Amino acid sequence: MQKKATTSRQRRDDVLALPIVLDPAVRSQSLQVHGALRTGIVDGLLVPGLRLPSTRVLAEQLGVRRNAIVAAYEALLSDGLVEARHGAGTYVAAQLPTPRTPVPAAELDIRIPQTRPFALGVTLVDPVVLKRLAAASRRRIAQAAPADLGYADPRGSLHLRTQVARYLAANRGVRCDPSCILIVSGTQHGLRLCIDALLKPGDAVWFEDPGYVASRHTLSTTGARLVPVPVDNEGIVVSAGEKADATARAVYVTPSHQFPTGVAMSMARRIGLLDWARRANAYIFEDDYDSEYRFAGPPLTALAGIGGERVIYLGTFGKTLFAGLRLGYLVAPPALVARVVAARAAQDRFPPAFIQDALADLMADGVIAAHMRRMRPRYRQARDVVAEALAKHAKGLLQLSAPAQGLHLLATLPPRTPKGAARLIRERAGIECRLLSDARLVQRGPDGFILGYSGFAAKDLADAARRLGRAAQEVLRDVGASRVQKV
Ligand SMILES: Cc1ncc(COP(=O)(O)O)c(C=O)c1O
Repeated sequence: MQKKATTSRQRRDDVLALPIVLDPAVRSQSLQVHGALRTGIVDGLLVPGLRLPSTRVLAEQLGVRRNAIVAAYEALLSDGLVEARHGAGTYVAAQLPTPRTPVPAAELDIRIPQTRPFALGVTLVDPVVLKRLAAASRRRIAQAAPADLGYADPRGSLHLRTQVARYLAANRGVRCDPSCILIVSGTQHGLRLCIDALLKPGDAVWFEDPGYVASRHTLSTTGARLVPVPVDNEGIVVSAGEKADATARAVYVTPSHQFPTGVAMSMARRIGLLDWARRANAYIFEDDYDSEYRFAGPPLTALAGIGGERVIYLGTFGKTLFAGLRLGYLVAPPALVARVVAARAAQDRFPPAFIQDALADLMADGVIAAHMRRMRPRYRQARDVVAEALAKHAKGLLQLSAPAQGLHLLATLPPRTPKGAARLIRERAGIECRLLSDARLVQRGPDGFILGYSGFAAKDLADAARRLGRAAQEVLRDVGASRVQKV
């Protein structure tokens, strides 16, 4: 009789060989069993009310220690996924959430710059600098004190802020105390902080037209009312801004190297803009994104260096080093620091700690300055290669503005070129670049190509420029050369 009872219980356990698979990548046996059973229950493979095998039988079936099964059952009990019935064993809980199959998000139109000329936002990554950054990061992590592992100042590392303050004083004419600097994850993030701290939804903001698309998105998605203000060969036309909306709350500008035209704002315009900001009690968001790469003459003084109290200065390591670093800095006038810091603390509290100090170590050791000195002639050469190849192959159909600074140039099509021709030319040339029309708020004047040259080998740039020049000739011939004037 006794023998018969044992046999039937064994058979019942045999029938219940569970269809679960352990994940050998998980170190602990109990976590493996818990994970496998949880997945089986949540996915509906192990149905409500199902009696689970005894710990001994399941341990044998899975080839693990019995203790691991006991611990896994206890964890499932705490999860509420199983129920223990006194003297009768462990059962899958009667009430379970409906099984859910993960659903992927809808396909998104996310533009990530690729590696083809003339993508913007690509730089040459110096392996020496990467090695030094890796070594400094390792050292910083290995030597971390308990305070380095906890919460920190929302402004970021004092070490990095001190280095940035020194860099700005020496190179940009911006004299500021490190307490007024915030380390941010790039220009867009800095701009977002300015908006959160200083503007209300619906506030009017002057925006350079044409201008930087990412900043335009940041401003418009946060509810700013963009006022397009044209740009001429002296920079933003302040009088046009005043005519459009003299009471705007802020202006976003790229004074050292207007994006995308490449114009440097004249001193008269700088003074005019600062005067307007004082009168209107408005803020100036100065995006100084690529001033470290100036090819002729001394670097231009930043607006923040001449008209401090209304200017919030935004700088980035995305051009100095590479965009994936996601590090930049914001300099606020002392009276505004508390508001910007409060906005930062309400977002993600503070920037990741170790990489900031590692970068500051490299700045202090002169590694970054040496990198910029090495890159400057290479980028200038890249600019010249593109300009020469386009002059040769576009046969006067593209007007170039190859500025004395920066990492892109603008090639404009002739007046009266039919709409859509730029897109066709880009396609035919097999290049990757933004069109001037993408950067415009108000469509006026001919379209053109914003050509990033900083991240590519000279021969690839020459080849792409040749294709662009030829494609311009072919497409303009096809669409009717008679309507197009050479430039
Ligand atoms: C006008 C302008 N501002 C800023 C940046 C840098 O932005 P971020 O620091 O967010 O990478 C770029 C990069 O291409 C730019 O073109």
